[in-house]
Amino acid sequence: MADASAKPVVIASNRGPVSFRREGGELLGRRGSGGLVSGLAPLVESGRATWIAAAMSDADREASAAGGGVVEVDGLSVHLLEIDPETQRRHYDEISNSTLWFVHHGLYDLVRSPAYDVDWWQSWESYRSVNAAFAEAIVSTAPTGAVVLVQDYHLCLVARMARVERDDLRFVHFHHTPFAGPEEFRVLPPTVRAELLEGLACHDACGFHTSRWESNYRACQADAGDTTGRTFHATLNSDLDDMRSVARSPACLEAGEQIAAVVGDRMVLARVDRMELSKNIARGFAAYDRLLETRADLHGRVVFLATCYPSRLGVEEYRRYRDEVVAAAELVNERWGTPDWRPVELMTDDDFPRSVAVLKTYDVLLVNPIRDGLNLVAKEGPAVNERDGTLLLSTEAGAFAELDDEVVPLFPFDIEGTARAIADALDMEPGQRRHRAKALAEAVERRTPQSWLEDQLNAV
Ligand code: F6P
Repeated sequence: MADASAKPVVIASNRGPVSFRREGGELLGRRGSGGLVSGLAPLVESGRATWIAAAMSDADREASAAGGGVVEVDGLSVHLLEIDPETQRRHYDEISNSTLWFVHHGLYDLVRSPAYDVDWWQSWESYRSVNAAFAEAIVSTAPTGAVVLVQDYHLCLVARMARVERDDLRFVHFHHTPFAGPEEFRVLPPTVRAELLEGLACHDACGFHTSRWESNYRACQADAGDTTGRTFHATLNSDLDDMRSVARSPACLEAGEQIAAVVGDRMVLARVDRMELSKNIARGFAAYDRLLETRADLHGRVVFLATCYPSRLGVEEYRRYRDEVVAAAELVNERWGTPDWRPVELMTDDDFPRSVAVLKTYDVLLVNPIRDGLNLVAKEGPAVNERDGTLLLSTEAGAFAELDDEVVPLFPFDIEGTARAIADALDMEPGQRRHRAKALAEAVERRTPQSWLEDQLNAV
């Protein structure tokens, strides 16, 4: 392994760390939050790294065109690639999110999908084109001898394409989702499987959040008869100091007051998620419904604060799922609500300070994904919570491998079991709650965005 500690770095990710919107005729830029940005942005700000990402909206495209392909927000400068909107839709909605995401999260109902028709194959060409656009940008901008950190399932083919012209570069791929096991991976067409696996094997190292996804990847390569290059696992974390400063911000305190007015002296069950198929939100409401059916003593004494904001609305399944989630919450309220108690408070706009206020307030946090690469909410919640809250965590989330001693494990498909786990957590005696919450708050501090970045750089 060479010393990569001082080499220049290029970051390539589909979604960049900044985004733009038009407001009152003005083009406004915003910096994203989350572990990826916290981990990688300092490297860009120090001048050691450049970041290449796709312009994701018309406003992004406008900003990119105005800046000659480079935009800057709060001192963070990013190369935003302008990709033809239809090619991008096919790459992002059809292949990345409706095919690869489904394969890696095990979301297909095989009776009906996938079905690789002519339209899908056209989308596969778009996946290649977008990967080629990133490869071209890397080839033309990467400093000599740079380490290229390629992020996620949207860009599996980039390294192979770029290497043809730049054999001075080293490539690390980091996969943020789970990786399918060999049987599930066989749902992809054989030629596509081979192209993806060859593309990934072209990296000097491939990283995953947990050893489970890493082993699955190695097993897929073995199934294809290929030898895998170097692999590693390294979990990401959010910038928890940043989370705590948001928790102290006026916007969060104000949201907290509004929440307190709704909650009163009731106990709080909470969740914070994108409305994402893998997050298992509807089963969460079904479990809460079952809890209220079996525990009349909890009526009026608990509120479910569910912050679930829409995501990937370009994909029909996500639009349908959003409607299902809203309907499932309404059903609980219709069934059990009274004039002075609404059992579920569903909040559907993406309001980060308010989400943090919810995390400060929970007695029980429900994180029950069907499958998840990591799940940062499972770390952010315990870092800011002020009520000795208990975390109920799906055994299928990558974060479970790190936090298993300090959480209540959930099998995400078991509605009855989830209802019982919520009841037990709400009933937990204060001493035990305090003890668990303290251990959990310590456990979530083990990793930082910087340790994750170092693990990637040390992999080559
Ligand atoms: O979990 C994989 C991931 O790409 C995360 O890195 C990201 O937060 C999430 O999915 C949402 O991605 P997007 O909104 O870009 O589709």
